[in-house]
Amino acid sequence: MDHFEKDLVDALKDIVKAGNWQCVGDKSKFKSPCTKLYSDDGEHIVLVHTEDDTFWAMDSSCPHEGGPLEQGDIEDLGNGKLALICPWHYFDFSLETGSSSTGLQNQVYDVRVLDDKVFINTQCMLSLCPIPVTSIITHQDSLPVEINENMLCTWATKILQTPDPQEKVSLTKMVQEKWNSWEITEIGESSPPSQPSRRDNLTVLEPGKIKRGKGGTLASRIALLHSLANIEQWAIDLSWDIIARFSTFTLSTGEPLPRQFFDDFVKVAGDEAKHYQLLEQRIMELGSFFGALPVHNGLWQSATDTSHDLLARLAIVHMVHEARGLDVYPQTLSRFAAHGDSSSVKVLEVIYTDEITHVAAGLRWFTYICSKEGCDSLKTFHDLVKLHFKGFLKPPFNIEGRKTAGMTEEWYVPLVKPSNLQKTS
Ligand code: FES
Ligand SMILES: [Fe+2]
Ligand SMILES: [Fe+2]
Repeated sequence: MDHFEKDLVDALKDIVKAGNWQCVGDKSKFKSPCTKLYSDDGEHIVLVHTEDDTFWAMDSSCPHEGGPLEQGDIEDLGNGKLALICPWHYFDFSLETGSSSTGLQNQVYDVRVLDDKVFINTQCMLSLCPIPVTSIITHQDSLPVEINENMLCTWATKILQTPDPQEKVSLTKMVQEKWNSWEITEIGESSPPSQPSRRDNLTVLEPGKIKRGKGGTLASRIALLHSLANIEQWAIDLSWDIIARFSTFTLSTGEPLPRQFFDDFVKVAGDEAKHYQLLEQRIMELGSFFGALPVHNGLWQSATDTSHDLLARLAIVHMVHEARGLDVYPQTLSRFAAHGDSSSVKVLEVIYTDEITHVAAGLRWFTYICSKEGCDSLKTFHDLVKLHFKGFLKPPFNIEGRKTAGMTEEWYVPLVKPSNLQKTS
């Protein structure tokens, strides 16, 4: 029996044994490197066809912030092993194991080709057709605002409409000072834009078109700092958006949000502005500048999806995405440390400490509103995440960092796919 026949017989035995193999179609259908397959459990899969005619499969939603891995690029990370690179922040995921040098882990699936048909080992139903989108919400952009200098909300909207990141940072710091010294006393109300402004010369990413260099090189470190600076720029806007969009939120008792809610998110905005500035400065020290690389604006999607519901906003943006940031920081830090880049490490340490307080703020206001409304905060959180976040939360988690923020395991473990539960840390 030659190798091929033996492989075939072994593969057939496996198929019979496991019984979870699904044929997704003829291999000639999958010419391009990545194809998205839609799963009935919402955790879609990307099928990868590499140049050596091998097939691989993993979850298509990036374990970092849900980036579309099917739009990613295949790269050899220098060790002969191929990885799929997420188009949003260039985290690498080994095609073979799903592990990433950032410490995250993506779920991979066995793939077999038999008789030119591609089989994937999963219990879920897969299909090449997308699930139809039923509702598209359009928003009317607000007109440029006239500044009422005494109102927090009009400043928030002005900052959202400021395209230049440095100006956004300066305005944020100024408003933070005025708010803290009671020079701004009213919260007021305004209608924030559906999407914040961005500089015209900032190239918005064509997914998968960036080459970021082999892991650990100067180019790849600059690319990572650049993507973090981009996240921080969006984070400044997310903080002002929650202030402006929900300024008139009232509890069912008729009470408005207390001033401390706004104190907290003004502080978050100030921190994010500081983070952007630290990263921008570090990128310049390394010989580049913010805007030198394309960026993506995927992070705003979760703001749009939750613009109608404060609890959903707190849950998705601050308790899922910001907590995800905590999960990846320790590994990101050690990546810079391994290359002796202590200046970048210092910047990341400052950011990490602050980010813990941001998750804590999200959690504090989420539980505050739930307790005022008499609803179970854990159950409400789980329901909202299932409704607004695509797919499951993925281990490993930074259990310590999350705990410091007050987010104990009962918040996130129930949102992990049952088959991944053994790997939560
Ligand atoms: S690296 Fe994929 S979403 Fe951030
Ligand atoms: Fe930040
Ligand atoms: Fe943050």
